[in-house]
This record gives sequence, structure tokens and C-alpha cells, in this order.
Amino acid sequence: MQPESVLSRLALVGRTPLAILPTPLLPAPSLAAALRADVHISIKADAWTGLGLGGNKVRKLEYELDPARLDGVTDLVTAGGPHSNHCRVTAAAAARLGLGCTLVINGEPGDAGRGNALLHRLLGARIATVADRAARGAAMAKEADRIAAAGGRALVVPVGASTPRGALGYVRAAAELREQIGNGDRASGPTKSAAARGLSPGPAQSRGAPVWIFTSSSSGGTLAGLIAGCALMDWGAQLIGVSPDDPARMVHGAATEIALAAAALLPHPPHGSHPGADELTRRIRNIAAATLVTDAFVGPGYGAPTRAAEEAIALFGARTGVILDPVYTGKAAAAMIAWVRERKVPPGAHVIFLHTGGHPALFR
Ligand SMILES: Cc1ncc(COP(=O)(O)O)c(C=O)c1O
Repeated sequence: MQPESVLSRLALVGRTPLAILPTPLLPAPSLAAALRADVHISIKADAWTGLGLGGNKVRKLEYELDPARLDGVTDLVTAGGPHSNHCRVTAAAAARLGLGCTLVINGEPGDAGRGNALLHRLLGARIATVADRAARGAAMAKEADRIAAAGGRALVVPVGASTPRGALGYVRAAAELREQIGNGDRASGPTKSAAARGLSPGPAQSRGAPVWIFTSSSSGGTLAGLIAGCALMDWGAQLIGVSPDDPARMVHGAATEIALAAAALLPHPPHGSHPGADELTRRIRNIAAATLVTDAFVGPGYGAPTRAAEEAIALFGARTGVILDPVYTGKAAAAMIAWVRERKVPPGAHVIFLHTGGHPALFR
């Protein structure tokens, strides 16, 4: 199945456009030269999805906030840590759509005037603070009740928008990426529609090359969408999820389950050659089994600095002009750099670094 067919199948699902798409695919030759001459590196710049300083949550919210689900809704309610990127983008989406927003935040930020904590407030969100993560679910339900008692209606967005519906945002990203690469491992040129839309045809040396995609992966929605997208296109890209916090086994399990559930949301169109439900499930299981998830770059814990992430941030800055964040993308890039250097990535590969955003963490 070609990327265009995935996009036309996705068009049967409700979506509220929020992101600036497609995000660019930036070649990074100077970074590649600094690491290994025999691989090609590109950055898929999802840090630049636009809304509320962008990042991966914008694509997820486009599907989570399906217009049919917003009917009669007055407020969005979600939860996260004091510097949650997801809370920032949800507050921005509420503001864009003319809705109220309540954020259930576990813990107090060190300084509420910095980083995402500042942005949550600048985006007009109401903040309800709870003691810890375990208290978030009940607090979100309580906030929804409070809104209903006042005559409104809340849509509760699960933490990280890592739902099957949210993952469809990364099914779309997988199709977009494959169009930009020009069908990568199929040894064919860029699709006509990619050229027509002015997307980069992808570097000639990457055509026919094995494609390795590195992404930060935590609650699993982003990786899940990539898995389901690759399954729909029968695309043999090697996916690597890099955990910033949880054990690899947990992240892998969550991504697999979400991918299966996301595929089940896609209606089967009457025309065209689309894999049936059983075939799609089989492909998702195969791709998930081949997907690698590592927790070797977490370091002392979530958000704690590591030497490898610091080096990755400095290298990306100096060699690509692209800024990474210390919590998610710095650690994911550290993994990519180590795997390239250690030759875990095969010669001739086209390595894609999916930049999922998170910049405000630099300023907290
Ligand atoms: C900047 C950034 N990158 C990556 C991730 C991980 O994405 P996912 O939760 O879909 O695994 C997050 C999620 O919190 C994030 O904020």
C-alpha cells in the first residue's frame, strides 16, 4: 500500500487540523560526516509542528480531538507533570479551538515562571495540582464533574494522548515520511504526489537503502503509530524507540497494544487494495516484534542529565543547527549516535532521527 492510500484511508477518520504539515525532512550531512561516512542521516522535524511550540503531541491531538468528539464540548481536561509537553500542547489546542482547559498537574514546578510551567499559564489553562501521578485519574474525573455541574461538558484527554486514536497522527507521519524519502527500501524514486506537493524527493543515495528510524518513546503512542503505519504500507523500515524513563519492555508492550488498537479504528474503504484486518494484525505483530526499544540511555532517571545526551545536544547544535531537548530527544539522539558509531546500524543505511520536540525543558 502506497503512502497516498494510507492518507486516503486516514481521511475517513475525523481529524481537527492543528499542525503545520508536512514537517520538513532535513538532511544532516555534516552530522553523518562526524559520525560515520557510510551512513546518511536526516532529521524529521516534528519539533516544528507549530501549535504551542510544536512537538509530537500536536499530531496526536489532531485525531484525539476528532470534530465528532468535540460536539458540545466546552473544556479539555488532561494531566501531566509540572513541565509536561503534552499539557502545553493540549492547552494550546483548547485556546485555538475556543475551549477552556484544565490541567491536572502532579507536583509543583521548581519555578512556575519557567519552561512548560510558564507556558501552561500563558496559554490560559486552569491548573489543579495533585500530590502524585496516582492521583491524576480521579482528579481529572473530578474536574470533568465540576465542569458539568457548571453547565459545561469536558473531554478528558488521556495522559500523553497515547491512545489508539492519537497514534493515528503517527500513522500519518509514517506515510508522510515515506513519501519524503521516496519509497526508501523499495528502490523506486519519489512518488509523483510527493513531487507535486513540493516535498523533498529525498537524497538519491538513500533510495533502496535500509531505513532506520530513531524516536524517543515513552507512553508509546508515537512508536505505535509508526508501527501501524509501516504495517499498512508493508514498509520494512527498522524502528527504534528510545525510552526516557520506563523499562524497555513496558514501552514496547504499550506501543504494540496501541498499534493494534489504532489499526482497528481505520475503516476499510470499499475500493483499492488494502490489507484485510487479519493481514494487518499479522503485519503489526511482525513489525512490533522487529522493533527495538532501548532503556540504556535513561541514566539516573527521567529528566536527569547524562553525558551522552549532553554530547548529542552539542553535536546536533554544532553540526545541524537543530536544537534538542535534554529530557526526550537528547537521550534518543544519544542512542542514535552510539548505534551509528558502534556499527549496529548497517553501512549505507538512511538513518532518520524523528525530532519529537520538547524545547521548553531547556529553559526550566
Ligand atoms: C518531546 C517528547 N518526545 C517524545 C515523547 C514520547 O512520546 P510518546 O509518549 O508518544 O511515546 C514525549 C512524550 O511525553 C515528548 O514530550
